[in-house]
Amino acid sequence: MYESPGELLPKESESDRAAPRNSSAGTAEKSPRESVPVVGGEDVSVSQVLVPSVSPENADSLPSLPVPAAAVAMSSTSSEPQDAEAALKSSSSLGSEALDANGKSPSEFGEIEMPEQNGDSSDSAKDGDAEAMEKPSGLVEEEASPEKPSRKASFCHDASDNVKATIRPCPSLSANLNNYDSMEDAPLPANGSPVMEEAWERLNKSYVFYKGKPVGTLAAMDPNADALNYNQVFVRDFVPSGLACLMKKDMEPEIVKNFLLKTLHLQGWEKRIDNFTLGEGVMPASFKVGFDLQDKKERLVADFGGSAIGRVAPVDSGFWWIILLRSYTKCTHDYSLADLPVVQKGMKLILNLCLSDGFDTFPTLLCADGCSMIDRRMGVYGYPIEIQALFYFALRCAQQLLKPERDGKELIERIDKRIMALSFHFRKYYWMDHTQLNIIYRYKTEEYSDTAVNKFNVIPESIPDWVFDFMPLRGGYFIGNVSPARMDFRWFLVGNCIAILSSLATTAQATAIMELIEDRWEDLIGEMPLKITYPALEGHEWRIVTGCDPKNTRWSYHNGGSWPVLLWLLTAACIKTGRPQTAKRAIELVEKRLAKDGWPEYYDGRSGRYIGKQARKYQTWSISGYLIAKLMIENPANISIISFEEDKKISKPRLTRSTSF
Ligand code: GLC
Repeated sequence: MYESPGELLPKESESDRAAPRNSSAGTAEKSPRESVPVVGGEDVSVSQVLVPSVSPENADSLPSLPVPAAAVAMSSTSSEPQDAEAALKSSSSLGSEALDANGKSPSEFGEIEMPEQNGDSSDSAKDGDAEAMEKPSGLVEEEASPEKPSRKASFCHDASDNVKATIRPCPSLSANLNNYDSMEDAPLPANGSPVMEEAWERLNKSYVFYKGKPVGTLAAMDPNADALNYNQVFVRDFVPSGLACLMKKDMEPEIVKNFLLKTLHLQGWEKRIDNFTLGEGVMPASFKVGFDLQDKKERLVADFGGSAIGRVAPVDSGFWWIILLRSYTKCTHDYSLADLPVVQKGMKLILNLCLSDGFDTFPTLLCADGCSMIDRRMGVYGYPIEIQALFYFALRCAQQLLKPERDGKELIERIDKRIMALSFHFRKYYWMDHTQLNIIYRYKTEEYSDTAVNKFNVIPESIPDWVFDFMPLRGGYFIGNVSPARMDFRWFLVGNCIAILSSLATTAQATAIMELIEDRWEDLIGEMPLKITYPALEGHEWRIVTGCDPKNTRWSYHNGGSWPVLLWLLTAACIKTGRPQTAKRAIELVEKRLAKDGWPEYYDGRSGRYIGKQARKYQTWSISGYLIAKLMIENPANISIISFEEDKKISKPRLTRSTSF
């Protein structure tokens, strides 16, 4: 599955990092393959080898690769537990990192690498970030307080007077993120049951270290399966891990901050697939830590989709990144991270990818198949619900995080407009319930002009038979995709739950979704929560839509498989809609088997009874997803780290039949 990163490796090595972003200088003489060969790829040379970074705990899980022993030894010493521990302590003074009087940014680990996205050095210098980035290693760490921030720490209070003047919450940020106080009084859960204790232990073991600091979690640590690319830190997979670190009793915000900064740094790479350069704002799907024997330095190696099945860039990564940044900020009250010029710029680059003018007549985002959690061909090309819901979620987070200075104001205005248009379109055209299905069933076709009721010319004969049986009289859901003459009626869990969490769904729609889940429990939850999509594609449809994908056979993997990681999204949606009992039912089902089965990635079968054919065991997001589901059910106030209240300013679309019909 995993292929050699080839040209997706960083164009520039550490030594030539300062070269301008689009400069071709250096690429001719030093191809990425030559400069950074990667273990696991075909072009491993003895003199210059990268190996996955070994944290002492995860050493066992690393694949047997043709790596010289010396390389492994060198790599493993680079992340000694004591070093990591000490470094962690010294860097844990989030928010009390020194900013100078000009508002210059704090260093990342005391040794920040300058994202190339800020290749416009004059701009960077103006922003004050370049200088801070070049601060000698350790400078900031020495100044830092060794104390970890409390859950409701006020960093201004901890900092020196000098720092107080410069670390200030951005006005929009503090105004919008103030809805957090309830958390402080709520009881914090202990590590809980033996299953939870095992989960915490396994989550800790999945930590990936870079220069002694935790920067993410491995996707899986299955000792009996090929690592493929599961020995990488996936951006989307890290979200539940990061939330677990934020929600746990002894909060660990460092790993989240490090992850956000490291991935931001990777965004700055020039990303090329064959001769084509990807957009500046694209975030990686995943990265791993390698060790360059020649430079004797650890290196990050990222994949922007070019090494993945299908060669599709992950549209979801950037959105998850913004969402996690808001969670981090909201949870820690460390506004200084989101305030950094590089972070502001990273956000803008992500948003520019989605908000630029084009040929679109819809406010939704046009996507290729396989651009999100479902990262193989599954017929989700077009305007998939998962991306639309994440897009909306990220826009709302960015509304809170972006500073209005400079071009920020104009961008915030564009975001406001898009939020209005997107929520109207989504709530109106993706919504399906018994009434709406009946309307579509009776649609006329070939309607011209703006009075058309059947706006996308959907032919009623294209409605699949199963929907008529599936649709309860009470309840409803957002369908998978809406585009010209095409409605994908499949149920997708991620999109529906994200729509609830972000308040893209109206209160009535959110309630209806929960009613549908309860009504169709056997189909959507079954014996092992939760179906990623329903129903499965079978026979001819499977052949045509998936291209005969042997991994996505019916009721397996993305094609109707059951994914325990999704438990956290269901739990959050249940709490938000006031139905914690529904979440508890699902959690009990998970607890019956998940740990005993070795925390698999997914289950197969109509009711999810069988461990997935090709499922990895000890899949980190199955572990962290379970943990945050438990943490939220034990302390529902935790949900505020990730959820949004309804935006009262957005008008509700009329979901009734148009009078022009
Ligand atoms: C699989 C999943 C993808 C996930 C990755 C790492 O490829 O489809 O969503 O991010 O594994 O766990």
